[in-house]
Amino acid sequence: METMRWEDGVLLLLDQTRLPGKVEYIQCRDHVTVAEAIRSLRVRGAPAIGAAAAYGLVLGVLAARPRNRQELLARAREVAEVLASTRPTAVNLTWALNRLLHKLEATPSQDTRELTELLINEAHAIYQEDREGNKRIGRYGQELVPPGARILTHCNAGALATAGYGTALGVIRAAQEAGKRVSVYASETRPLLQGARLTAWELLQENIPVTLITDNMAAYLMARGMVDLVVVGADRIASNGDVANKIGTYGLAVLAREHGVPFYVAAPLSTIDLSLDSGKDIPIEERRPEEVTHLAGIPVAPRGIKVWNPAFDITPARLITAIITDQGVARPPYRESLAGLFKA
Ligand code: MRU
Repeated sequence: METMRWEDGVLLLLDQTRLPGKVEYIQCRDHVTVAEAIRSLRVRGAPAIGAAAAYGLVLGVLAARPRNRQELLARAREVAEVLASTRPTAVNLTWALNRLLHKLEATPSQDTRELTELLINEAHAIYQEDREGNKRIGRYGQELVPPGARILTHCNAGALATAGYGTALGVIRAAQEAGKRVSVYASETRPLLQGARLTAWELLQENIPVTLITDNMAAYLMARGMVDLVVVGADRIASNGDVANKIGTYGLAVLAREHGVPFYVAAPLSTIDLSLDSGKDIPIEERRPEEVTHLAGIPVAPRGIKVWNPAFDITPARLITAIITDQGVARPPYRESLAGLFKA
């Protein structure tokens, strides 16, 4: 199952809002459709929205048919701004867009065909590097997984959230491929149920044993000694190792510490934002109240009730046992170990 596919100038995106009921691809022929897909979580997960935005930038430039380098650059910047404004937390989005813009700016060519070709190739490179990076995350991460481990994960940091294989689920996949016979608890992940709809679906397809729990069952699960480790993905990691990830992650990290369970974060370097000193600087997206007041379109709360709906939370670095990246495993103190991975 591919999260996205580039086919003859069209971006096909697997519509994740329809899963697990329907496997449907939407066709994106312009950046506005891509921006809408990111905003409405048809495509979601930090690395996946980075790759989708890169292709979105290509589509926006192609659609404008710029006549010269100047027009092309102006258009690319304008389209990048639209795409960047869709979701604020995952840094992979702006990371991917900036990578394309820098590539353009660094290439003096006046030939618009050559420049658009360059953009397409860079978008492909982002996609391909993410797939390969996730395999490396899996290889590094599986070494931390004991045979027979019962693993708790939250949200979906799988193939669906990336260009393939997944980050947290990449670690789980690799452990399974290494013959470790792991089993997984997937927390449902209110309000939008990425755990129930996506992680459960993805793992079932791979025949990795998975048990679904609601978010409020995690404490009792750990108290009963039923979790050997937690592994989650990340949307942005600050230079001190604080991690922004799906709302509920912080709670799981606190629980893991209380119960002596290792808590791992798996993410590529493109998720690490060394420009930010700590998690306090990470912008946290707040989403529509309807996501909380309604379940699958059905109201489950009184009309007009006040709602707070942050999509992510910050897990402080001190609660994280290790950060598994595509360039190796970082351990505390993270300020040094994360910076070291970029130099390697
Ligand atoms: O709101 P979402 O579904 O985009 O949130 C996704 C997450 O929080 C993931 O854990 C994170 O992006 C890592 S995906 C490899």
